Amino acid sequence: MKIQENFSLKNYNTFGVEVNCQFFVEITSIESLQELLTNPLWKAMPKLILGEGSNVLFSQDFSGLVIKMSLKGIKKTAENEDHVWITSAAGENWHELVLYCLKSQLAGVENLSLIPGTVGAAPMQNIGAYGVELKEVFEQLTAIRLSDGKLCVFDQSACRFGYRDSIFKREFKNQYVIVSVGLRLNKTPIFRFEYGAIKETLAAMQVKDLSIQAISNAVIKIRQQKLPDPRKIGNAGSFFKSPILPKEDFLAIHQRYPELPYFVDENEGYKIPAGWFIEQCGWKGRRMGDAGVHEQHALVLVNYGKGSGIEIKRLAEEIQASVKDKFSILLTPEVNII
Ligand code: FAD
Ligand code: EPU
Repeated sequence: MKIQENFSLKNYNTFGVEVNCQFFVEITSIESLQELLTNPLWKAMPKLILGEGSNVLFSQDFSGLVIKMSLKGIKKTAENEDHVWITSAAGENWHELVLYCLKSQLAGVENLSLIPGTVGAAPMQNIGAYGVELKEVFEQLTAIRLSDGKLCVFDQSACRFGYRDSIFKREFKNQYVIVSVGLRLNKTPIFRFEYGAIKETLAAMQVKDLSIQAISNAVIKIRQQKLPDPRKIGNAGSFFKSPILPKEDFLAIHQRYPELPYFVDENEGYKIPAGWFIEQCGWKGRRMGDAGVHEQHALVLVNYGKGSGIEIKRLAEEIQASVKDKFSILLTPEVNII
């Protein structure tokens, strides 16, 4: 286990901001992680768990130990007539896991194709896209408690998943390292193509026989058209969560803006895309130094090159203030600001 000092995180966050951490270690085995967490030398040190850095904004250097999760391995653990259970180590790339499922004809994650990041980070915010969320295929996860290195298992209800939310973003924030995630996949697909432009894209691609591979291809196509590639321009996907309003608040705003896009969530309320609010406030394509709002997507904040985390954070705060001013709605960041 090599612990590096005064380490640059520029290549470890998709915003590409230049920050350093005091100490950095890459973890490739559970034993070495437990050894590290129980070592008195490191016990009191602030720690940050990092996957691929695609949902973090470093607003300053990190005075502590960054633990980069690189545990690898995907295996089939059980099977019955309808389902196959798999377990993936936290450091696997999420899209590689989706490809593994596609290759094995296992359905359930095809709509979640091409979401950046690691498998271990996926339960953190219950990743979601194109009408599907991780929680629908999630079985359980294994995590290590940072305070004592103890292994704990969390099932679906213990994770308290919500829209871009879980217990690990709330009560258990910074308390556990997720080391593996178990999923239950379907042998017979239930195709989900009602959301967004999937149907039109399948038609444009002249797909005749629907398959999980075809849905994955369509989702990939849409994502590549809509979202900037972090390898070309620094970003972390949607910067804010889309607000979910109770019916009365929704009706009031809908009356003023009948063109307002929205989705009805049976359990939660009326979800209005945050990008719409931001565009209405005139932010789309605007720049503050090297920090900016993407020209094609108002919900994606970008780093044009040398933007610092603090500049991007200030831009986000200005956006929040103007949306609050115009619509009396406070946008909540989806990105983890450190
Ligand atoms: P990181 O950014 O490294 O970490 C994110 C958070 O999780 C941090 O708080 C970190 O401390 C914590 N964490 C990471 N790994 C672990 C672990 N093993 N144990 C405990 N805590 C951990 N998200 C969606 O939900 N849907 C989308 O459609 C989507 N599209 C995106 C598109 C783009 C272009 C980008 C850049 C991002 C997008 N995201 C999307 C956000 C991002 O892909 C997810 O949040 C992803 O799960 C982050 O994975 P990561 O490994 O990069 O996590
Ligand atoms: N919109 C605008 N202006 C814009 C962008 C969007 O008005 O500049 C409005 C349009 O009405 C558009 C609607 O917002 O139809 C929805 O836009 P899009 O389909 O791009 O989806 P989104 O709401 O911006 C959400 C997720 C994405 C996920 C997609 C597809 C959140 C915060 N974001 O984005 O997740 O990939 O739907 O399911 O829920 C992420 O979490 O990082 C992420 C990219």
